[in-house]
Amino acid sequence: MDHFNYRDGRLHAEDVPLARIATEVGTPVYIYSAATLTRHFGLFRQALAWTDHLVCFAVKANSNLAVLKLLGDLGAGMDVVSGGEYARAKAAGVPGERIVFSGVGKTPAEMRQALEGGIRQFNVESEPELAVLSEIAAGMGLEAPIAIRVNPDVDAKTHEKIATGKSENKFGIPIARAREVYAQAAALPGIRVVGVDMHIGSQLTDLDPFRQAYTKMAGLVCTLRTEGHTITRLDMGGGLGIPYRRDNSAPPLPIEYGEVIRETVGDLGCEIEIEPGRNIVGNAGLLVSQVIYVKEGEGRDFLILDSAMNDLLRPAMYGAHHDIVPLAEPSVGAEFRPYDVVGPVCETGDTFQKGASLPALAAGDLIAFRSAGAYGAVMASEYNTRPLVPEVLVSGDQFAVIRARPTIDEILSRDTMPAWL
Ligand code: LLP
Repeated sequence: MDHFNYRDGRLHAEDVPLARIATEVGTPVYIYSAATLTRHFGLFRQALAWTDHLVCFAVKANSNLAVLKLLGDLGAGMDVVSGGEYARAKAAGVPGERIVFSGVGKTPAEMRQALEGGIRQFNVESEPELAVLSEIAAGMGLEAPIAIRVNPDVDAKTHEKIATGKSENKFGIPIARAREVYAQAAALPGIRVVGVDMHIGSQLTDLDPFRQAYTKMAGLVCTLRTEGHTITRLDMGGGLGIPYRRDNSAPPLPIEYGEVIRETVGDLGCEIEIEPGRNIVGNAGLLVSQVIYVKEGEGRDFLILDSAMNDLLRPAMYGAHHDIVPLAEPSVGAEFRPYDVVGPVCETGDTFQKGASLPALAAGDLIAFRSAGAYGAVMASEYNTRPLVPEVLVSGDQFAVIRARPTIDEILSRDTMPAWL
C-alpha cells in the first residue's frame, strides 16, 4: 500500500496534487511520500518484533539526506557500501553504532573513515580485505567488529544482474571455506568477530531462496560456535521484492519474510539485522514527467517525454517495468491506446515501455512512473548534459524540495580548462 492515489480526478501524493509540484518545481521530478516510507519501515520492524533486531536501510536504494534522516529518526540503521554513503548516513544524524559497511571493494581510506567515525560492523567479503582491515584497525589501536559475508550458493531466482548468492558471483566467501576464514579472522589483531552476513540478491519474489540460504547460515553458526567463535549477530541482507505491476500477484510481505527468519535462525539467540532497500523506498516514490511530443510512427505512436534513460535507468539496464499512469485520472469509459513511451536521448535503448496502454495524451500532459523511489534518482546521470532530476518529499499537505535541479551553469562550471588550451 502506498499514498499515491487519485482524488478529485488528480493523482495525489498524500494530500498534495502531483500536478502542483510539477508546476512549482518543474519536470521531470522524483516525488516521495513520507507516510509510505514510514509505513514500510514499520512493517519490517513489526516483522522482527519477536527478537532483538536492527533494520539497516540499504542506502544505495535512495541516498537523499532527507530520506535517510526520516528513516534514521524512526530508529533505522544504515547499510552503506562506500565512504560517500557512510558520510551521508552520518550527515543524516545516524550514529556509527547503527551503520554497517558492506561491499567487495572497501578501500583503506574508507575503512579508516568508518573506524574513526564509529561503525557497528564491517561485512567482510574476502581474505585480502580482512588482512587490510586488520592492519588498519590494529594500527589505529582499535578492534574492527566484523561479520563475514558468506556466499551460500543459492539461486535467488531474480534478474541475473542483481543475483548475488551463487558461487559464480563476486560476492562473499564460499560457504565451504567459511570455517577456514573465520579461524584466520579470530587469529588476526584488530579484528573482533561478531557475526555472519549473507545477501543473496535483489527483487526476490519467492521466499524459498531465503529459506535455503538462512538454513545454511544456521548450520554454519552451529559449526562456528563449536569451533569457539562467539556469534551474536546475524545479518540477513536485503532483497525482498516489491510489486512493480498493479495487476500481478504481489511478492511475499515483510511479515512472511520475518517468519522465514524466525523459522530458520530464530532459536540461535542472535540479534538479527536486515538490509532492505527497495522494499522500503521503491513504492514510496514516483517520477513525474511531461509529454513533449506525440509523434505518429508507422503502426505506433511515440510518446516522447522530458525524462529519459539517464533519469530512470532501470528499463534500459534491466528491461525493468514501471507502471505509467496519467496525472489526470482517466474518465470512466475513456478509450485507451498503445504508445511506445520514450525519452529524448539519442539511443534506441531510451525506451521506457513499448505498447503502454494509456488514455489519449497530448503535448504538455503529465504522467508518472510508479515504483521509482528505489534505484531511480541514485542511478541517474547527466548523460546528454541533462541535469540530475530534483527530488521532493511530501508529508501530509506539505512538500519540500530535498534536492534542487542543478542549473546548466552549475554543470558547466564543474569542468575546468587546462592552462595550455
Ligand atoms: N544489502 C546488500 C549487501 C546489497 O548489495 C543490496 C542491494 C541490498 C542490501 C539491498 O537490496 P534490496 O532490499 O534493495 O533489494 N540497481 C538494481 C538493484 C541492485 C541491488 C544491489 N544490492 C535495480 O535497480 O534493480
